[in-house]
Amino acid sequence: MQTGQGYAIEDKTMRMTMEKTKRRVKISSIGVYVPPKILTNADLEKMVDTSDEWIITRTGIRERHLADESQATSDLCLEAARRALDQASLKIDDVDLILVATSSPDTLFPSTACWVQKGLEATEIPAFDLSAGCTGFLYGMIVAESLILNGTCRRVLLIGGELLSKITNWKDRATCVLFGDAAGAVILEESPDESGIISFFWQADGRLADLLYLPAGGTRRPASEETVRQGLHYISMKGNEVFKHAVRRMGEAALEALKRAGLKPEDVTHFIPHQANIRIIEATGERLKLPPEKVYTNIDRYGNVSVASIPLCLEELRAGGKLKKGDIILMDAFGAGFTWAAIVYRW
Ligand code: COA
Repeated sequence: MQTGQGYAIEDKTMRMTMEKTKRRVKISSIGVYVPPKILTNADLEKMVDTSDEWIITRTGIRERHLADESQATSDLCLEAARRALDQASLKIDDVDLILVATSSPDTLFPSTACWVQKGLEATEIPAFDLSAGCTGFLYGMIVAESLILNGTCRRVLLIGGELLSKITNWKDRATCVLFGDAAGAVILEESPDESGIISFFWQADGRLADLLYLPAGGTRRPASEETVRQGLHYISMKGNEVFKHAVRRMGEAALEALKRAGLKPEDVTHFIPHQANIRIIEATGERLKLPPEKVYTNIDRYGNVSVASIPLCLEELRAGGKLKKGDIILMDAFGAGFTWAAIVYRW
């Protein structure tokens, strides 16, 4: 075992033994919430100098859903959480921790998880946020797995919620066409059988932090008239740089997580990549030599919803009856930090 790097098992015999005896953590239910309001590429053509054709060919996005003025991130998270609890026929009292992955919190403090806790009327269970850009949902699964396996929690409510439309500069065509709002929640608990997380890989490189970040509003550049005037409370991104790193790191993470599971790309039933750009998704799929039918995409309908993107894909596959017991799912994400991670999961 390498510190911080998941399971690195070199010996095949040992790996097979581990496969048989290892305790697993599984997703026992999923709930998602997507706000009803839709913004199409045609709508964007009226707002900035862009075209439907440019957006589709460069990103794969046709439309995205936006929250309304009155909503905050925790409102989206709350809806998703309620749906996940309902699907599992559980009450919030059956859960031991609320963990929210987000980069667009309601407030800098307290955490969005505490606002969700208030909404769920779940007093006295721990609640905190995790910030890992668009990789936050996978980081959250990895953290939750370890809390469950070490006995700290029996069940974790993990929510990936993002309301990026309120930190997007709607005059910047390079970013405003990309993002959408949504939340996805899962309940994680110990698996009674072989289903669940088989392996993972996670890394970060803070040297590249300023290629994708929110420049102002924190302690580095507190809010001032000047920061507001310069639009520094909006997402700042060097898109083509992010693109190159995303393609490289998502490929590496997927291959490393598969190696740690003792599996090969051809063993994967469903590849669920973070939905940031169809060209990043296709390039990663090609690097893994996966046929397009194994690569799940819904970016055309939602855009990049950051941490909500993987649970949204999972729920669409589940609700569509496409997930069969024993299916091998490869989840893969990249985001601000930079952060990246992949999880190999047996359904
Ligand atoms: N409509 C029309 N033209 C646009 C445009 C838009 N919405 N946005 C940018 N352009 C223009 C640029 O101004 C540039 O024009 P120029 O050549 O005259 O200077 C041209 O298109 C190419 O810009 P570039 O940024 O090189 O395009 P790209 O092919 O890299 O695509 C992104 C831009 C943002 C779609 C792409 O880089 C991307 O998806 N990056 C990753 C973003 C991401 O995933 N972020 C989140 C990580 S989780």
